[in-house]
Amino acid sequence: MCGLVGYIGERDVTPILLDGLKRLEYRGYDSAGIATLVNSHVEIVKRAGKVNDLENLVALNPKPATIGLGHTRWATHGEPSDKNAHPHIDHTGTITLAHNGIIENYAAIRQRLQRDGVEFTTDTDTESLLQLISAFYDITGNLEDAVRFALSEIDGTYGIIVMSSKEPEKLIAARMGSPLALGINDGEYIVASDASAIVGHTRQVIFLEDGNIATLTREGYEIKTIYDEKIEHKVTEITFDIEQIEKGGYDHFMLKEIHEQPQTVLDSMRGRILKNHGTAKLGGLRDVMNALNSAQRILITACGTSWHAGLVGEYMLEQYARIPVEVEYASEFRYRSPIIRHDDVVIAISQSGETADTLAALREAKLQGASVIGICNVVGSTIARETHAGVYTHAGPEIGVASTKAFTSQLAVLSLLTLMLGRNRGFISLEQGVEIAKEFEAIPGKIQQILDENISEIKTIADSITESTNVLYLGRGYNFPTALEGALKLKEISYIHAEGYPAAEMKHGPIALIDENMPVIFIAPQDKIHEKVISNIEEVRARKGRVIAIVNHDDEQIESLCEHVIKIPPTTDFLTPMLTIIPLQLLSYYVAVNRNCDVDQPRNLAKSVTVE
Ligand code: AGP
Repeated sequence: MCGLVGYIGERDVTPILLDGLKRLEYRGYDSAGIATLVNSHVEIVKRAGKVNDLENLVALNPKPATIGLGHTRWATHGEPSDKNAHPHIDHTGTITLAHNGIIENYAAIRQRLQRDGVEFTTDTDTESLLQLISAFYDITGNLEDAVRFALSEIDGTYGIIVMSSKEPEKLIAARMGSPLALGINDGEYIVASDASAIVGHTRQVIFLEDGNIATLTREGYEIKTIYDEKIEHKVTEITFDIEQIEKGGYDHFMLKEIHEQPQTVLDSMRGRILKNHGTAKLGGLRDVMNALNSAQRILITACGTSWHAGLVGEYMLEQYARIPVEVEYASEFRYRSPIIRHDDVVIAISQSGETADTLAALREAKLQGASVIGICNVVGSTIARETHAGVYTHAGPEIGVASTKAFTSQLAVLSLLTLMLGRNRGFISLEQGVEIAKEFEAIPGKIQQILDENISEIKTIADSITESTNVLYLGRGYNFPTALEGALKLKEISYIHAEGYPAAEMKHGPIALIDENMPVIFIAPQDKIHEKVISNIEEVRARKGRVIAIVNHDDEQIESLCEHVIKIPPTTDFLTPMLTIIPLQLLSYYVAVNRNCDVDQPRNLAKSVTVE
């Protein structure tokens, strides 16, 4: 997953590129570079490291220009290095390109061009595409045609920005499987991997579709298909502000986004709860309502945190809407020859809307005739546009690589869907529905209460487990998936090994791990299986395990058994995970800070994994 940005206009392009790359750095950050046209000559500055390192390098020899492109990389082919950093330049020194995606047939192209005498200078798949464009450019003398012909030979995914010193008034962008957004301003255009690099300049954005090639000049833009057919595109008004993607006074984006959750869960529900009717309204699903109301089965497919949200969705949809639900890792779903019936409904959950595995899974489901719904956070993302219908979570840009507010917003949307289907299918009565709707509206305030009351205790607990090498998270029912999510949070930002498990399942193996060095975090709200959880806590205590628990305020029984407790307000069972995950997000954050980890950009990770 990489960040791409390009500009053509009248302003000095360098600060625009560098600022854009900083806003895109969460997408990938092992190397970065910019290319500008200075007096019809390509100037490239690039290096391994973060955008700040690049900025310092550029400042050593500033060169004003008004057209250029930039890239921040998450390596897929070729290790992170100055040489492999983008942008690349072709062997003639006139065409430069930056790329996001994977060229699957790069090796064959490389061999063919090397046989024709082309010298390759990097280890990347991207260079094969660049040198192929260069080869066609020798023939056509026209950059758009050369790009189009080259792309017609490509297998794989790309989002690219290209320019040539021989045509200094032109920037070309093209996409297949990797997102590109085009910002439109007076006499200038900004193209980028997503709107966060554009919104500081303009809110008028076109989201390019797969197979599109956009040609940008100071006089205007043209979008064509790869077959040279002109196409019209609708312009989207971007609503979020640049401040929303700043840190807002918090030390890290992740902490800001944890604290945003009272607002973002509210935003996810806004206008969607019909309290007096005890139901919910999801306008984005109007075209698939019949399919949903009559569905014999719902398949949920996702990755990572989104998959955990799907697991919670399974429990609630089966309990309250009585629909059989199966939850599948997207990466497994696609390749295991799944049996998908035309009356199945498939729900793809994805914060970024660009996760390659999830996109591939939904395409498979569509091919087999299912109705496919998207639950996405990023407006105009590929998954959002390729599903038959969908619901945006409205959590706003999530910059921290570890997903927090997107998770609770996904849970909010799944809860709304459950309420709506439970009512439509007659398994939730009007009275029940009104009660649930009331409780739903209280959730943002309860999240705020947890944030207000528990920071100090959570910091104390974080201090007590910062040196641990293993942590076990245990929960039952709706809080088994929450245990998985809590463990993932700790793993991915503090690098401590953690495992989530159904509390009762701990007896069938993991109990062997329990000793005085093992912190065991129980998620134990007062629900119908509360007594069972207490038995599980006793089993851990009998083996000297260190017990930490998330409990409801008046739960003295469990408090007396624990080293630490975090107290949260009660709520309806299927809404509980929106509350119990909050302390676990904060706990992982403070442990990671104690361990001086890069909280917002953990090692080896990227915000959106657009490679399979
Ligand atoms: C979550 O904290 C992780 N960063 C990761 O598991 C993420 O949830 C997963 O890659 C799916 O991303 P998506 O929701 O954008 O599809």
